[in-house]
Amino acid sequence: MKVLVIGANGKVGKILVDKLQNSKNHTPIAMIRKESQQDFFSRKGISTIIGDLESSISSLANMSQQVDAVVFVAGSGGHTDTDKTIQIDLDGAVKSIEAAKQAGVNRFIMLSGMYVDRIHDFEDDTKIDTALAPYSIAKFYADEWLKNSGLNYTIIRPSHLTDEHGYGKIIAGDKLDYHTTSRENVALTILNSLENENTINKSFDMTDGEFEIEYALNKIN
Ligand SMILES: NC(=O)c1ccc[n+]([C@@H]2O[C@H](COP(=O)([O-])OP(=O)(O)OC[C@H]3O[C@@H](n4cnc5c(N)ncnc54)[C@H](OP(=O)(O)O)[C@@H]3O)[C@@H](O)[C@H]2O)c1
Repeated sequence: MKVLVIGANGKVGKILVDKLQNSKNHTPIAMIRKESQQDFFSRKGISTIIGDLESSISSLANMSQQVDAVVFVAGSGGHTDTDKTIQIDLDGAVKSIEAAKQAGVNRFIMLSGMYVDRIHDFEDDTKIDTALAPYSIAKFYADEWLKNSGLNYTIIRPSHLTDEHGYGKIIAGDKLDYHTTSRENVALTILNSLENENTINKSFDMTDGEFEIEYALNKIN
């Protein structure tokens, strides 16, 4: 599959494009923001396309032409204000989904976050964690948009990300307990999801764990 990776210059993105490039079945296209970021990818023979999630849907649709799948691993990051969270984690994600539709791409994988689907699961007198509220709310509605998009989606909700070696063993499922997740395992789970039909139109939590990724993905429902 030809796979457009949005957020390719990020920590997950770089691991993912490497794994796609080294796989037999896939060719990544790394969407990056700046020419200065190109060298890392071109040295490895990975194609890049320069784009910005703050641009229009039609410009994002142009970047999505001739690809088989779009993977969204971008994010505004923890150091920006709420306005960027809305612009990137919500609007950027929604525009990428609409752009994929416009370009006729029907597979879309979204990197979301653990607990994002649970933001309304609290009693009347409790409040959502205020520090993370804008981010979680942005991700929640972006995920809802994707579920209603008509695209073949997979929404992956890892817990707190680490830079540990991945080992390719995870737990995947619904309402998992907190545990850390290595970025390498996230990248491997995205790669496996592209190849596993059981992940189509599914959303699931993931953490590092004890099961081979293929086995864990075959078990999600
Ligand atoms: N951190 C966690 O514990 C955690 C847990 C669960 C889920 N997640 C999700 O996982 C995602 C990826 O994590 P990560 O560690 O790989 O993040 P990261 O290193 O911050 O990567 C985010 C990428 O998004 C790109 N980006 C930001 N604004 C953009 C824009 N306007 N247009 C295009 N690209 C843009 C950045 O581009 P530049 O390189 O140009 O800045 C960067 O490459 C996070 O964004 C978050 O949604 C994180």
